[in-house]
Amino acid sequence: MRCPTLVFLLIVNCIFLLTGLILLVAFPNWIVNKIAAKVMYIHEDGTGKSSFVTDYWERLPAVHIFKFYMFNITNPDDVMFHGHEPILQELGPYTYEMTEVKENIRYSKDGNLVSYRANKTWVFNPQKSCATCRCEDQVAFPNLVFTALIYYARTEKINIFYRRILDIFILIMRSKPIQNVGVCDILLNSYKDPIIEVIHTPIYKTLKKTLKLTTPDFPDLGYLPKYNRTGDGDFVVMTGKDDIANIGQIVSWNNWTELPWWNTPESRRFKGSGDGINQKPGIGKHDKYEMYQPLACRKFTLEYSGSEAHVNGIPALAYSFVGDSYDGVRNIGYRYENYEKMNYYPGWPCGLNHTVEVTPRCKNVKCDLFENWCDKCCNGSFINETWVLPPGIIPLRCQPGE
Ligand SMILES: *[C@@H]1O[C@H](CO)[C@@H](O)[C@H](O)[C@H]1NC(C)=O
Ligand SMILES: *[C@@H]1O[C@H](CO)[C@@H](O)[C@H](O)[C@H]1NC(C)=O
Ligand SMILES: *[C@@H]1O[C@H](CO)[C@@H](O)[C@H](O)[C@H]1NC(C)=O
Ligand SMILES: *[C@@H]1O[C@H](CO)[C@@H](O)[C@H](O)[C@H]1NC(C)=O
Ligand SMILES: *[C@@H]1O[C@H](CO)[C@@H](O)[C@H](O)[C@H]1NC(C)=O
Ligand SMILES: *[C@@H]1O[C@H](CO)[C@@H](O)[C@H](O)[C@H]1NC(C)=O
Ligand SMILES: *[C@@H]1O[C@H](CO)[C@@H](O)[C@H](O)[C@H]1NC(C)=O
Repeated sequence: MRCPTLVFLLIVNCIFLLTGLILLVAFPNWIVNKIAAKVMYIHEDGTGKSSFVTDYWERLPAVHIFKFYMFNITNPDDVMFHGHEPILQELGPYTYEMTEVKENIRYSKDGNLVSYRANKTWVFNPQKSCATCRCEDQVAFPNLVFTALIYYARTEKINIFYRRILDIFILIMRSKPIQNVGVCDILLNSYKDPIIEVIHTPIYKTLKKTLKLTTPDFPDLGYLPKYNRTGDGDFVVMTGKDDIANIGQIVSWNNWTELPWWNTPESRRFKGSGDGINQKPGIGKHDKYEMYQPLACRKFTLEYSGSEAHVNGIPALAYSFVGDSYDGVRNIGYRYENYEKMNYYPGWPCGLNHTVEVTPRCKNVKCDLFENWCDKCCNGSFINETWVLPPGIIPLRCQPGE
C-alpha cells in the first residue's frame, strides 16, 4: 500500500516542480510581479500594525541627502552704489540629511487609498559639506523684503502718495538691496527682518485692515524657514492594492489635486507622481518617474541616467532629473512672467550687438520659438512684451508645505 502512495506523491511533486520551473523560466517577471502584488502594496496586517514592507515605507531606514549651493556676492558695495554687475562666488555644498516619518496614517475602507502627513527631520552634516563650509558662514544675499517692496511698487497700481510713503519707510528702516545673512539661516532656520517685524506689530495690523493692504503673513524669512520637524502637507496616495503599478501615486496634497501657481496644465498636474520612495515593481530603463517635492512646490521628472549598479546583489538603476527641469525657455510651465519687464540678461542669448531688421521674409519666422530668437527678424528674448529669463532661472512659488 505505502509504496504506490509514495510513488504517486513523488510524481505529483515532480509535476508541480516542473510546472513551477517552466513557469518561472518562461514568465519570470510575471511570477515575481504576482508575488510582489501580494506583499508589496501599502497595508496593515490583520492586527492594525503596518505590514513588514509597509513599515519601510512609513519610516524609511535611509537618509535623504540634500546638497545646497549658495552664491555669495563679493562686490556688494559696487553693485549697490555704482550699478556694477554682481560678481558671484559659488559656495558649497552645504549638506543636510533628511529623515522622514509618516504620521496620521489612515486607510480608506476598501484599502485602495492611504492618507498621511510626512514629518521630516533635517540635520546639517559638516562632514559631508565642503571643507570650509560652516552653518554660520555669512553670505551677501539679495534682500528679499526690499526686493518684494520694489516689485510691489512697480507692479501694483498704487497712487503716488502711498509710493512716497513706501520710499520713506524703506529709507527709515535702512533696508538695502543686499544684506549679509548666515547660510543655515537662509536654508532651514529662518532669519528676521526689521520690516517684517513692523508688519507683525498690532499698529500695522490695524492699518492693514483699514487701508485694505495685502501684505503676506510670513513672520520668518528664508527658503525653508523653521521647516525642521514640521509636516509638509497632508498626502493621499494609492496603496497599490487594486493595481500594484499604482503604488505610492499621489491623489491629492493638502486637499489639492493641482498646483495653481504654474503656467501650464502639465506643470500644474502632480497627480500620479510619487514621493520618491515607492515606484511600481519592475521599473525599466525606458520608464520616466515623476516625483513631487513639496519643498519646491512642484514635481520633477526623472529618467534613467545611464548608470547601473548592484546593491547587496540586487540590480539597481540610477535616475536623474530630466534636462529641462529648470528651463523656463523650453518648459513654459516654469517660465517667470517678468511682469516688471526688466531685461535682466541683456547679452543673452544673442550677444549685445543683436539688431532687428524687418524684411518681407519675417512674416514666416516664428519669433516665439527659441531657435529663431537671434534671427534678424526677432527681438532676442523679448517675447510677448517682456523678456524671458535664461534656463536655470525659475521662480519660487510658495512656502514649503503651504
Ligand atoms: C562672502 O562675500 C563677502 C564679501 O561680500 C565676504 O566678506 C565673505 O567672507 C564671503 N563669505 C564666504 C562664506 O566666503
Ligand atoms: C532638527 O531637529 C533635530 C532634533 O531636534 C536636531 O537634532 C537638528 O539639529 C535640527 N535641525 C536643524 C536644521 O535645526
Ligand atoms: C514631528 O515629530 C516631532 C517629534 O516626534 C514632533 O515633536 C512634531 O510635533 C511632529 N510634527 C508634526 C507636524 O506632527
Ligand atoms: C482636507 O479636508 C479634510 C476633510 O474635509 C479636513 O479634515 C482637512 O483638515 C483638510 N486638510 C487640509 C490640509 O486642508
Ligand atoms: C559689438 O560691437 C562693437 C562695435 O562694433 C564691438 O567693438 C564689439 O566687440 C561687439 N561685441 C560683440 C560681443 O560682438
Ligand atoms: C504669448 O501670449 C499669448 C497670449 O497671452 C500666449 O497664448 C502665448 O503662449 C504666449 N507665448 C509665449 C511664447 O509665451
Ligand atoms: C521688438 O521690440 C520693440 C520694443 O522694444 C517692439 O516695438 C517691436 O515690435 C519688437 N519686434 C518684434 C519683431 O517683436
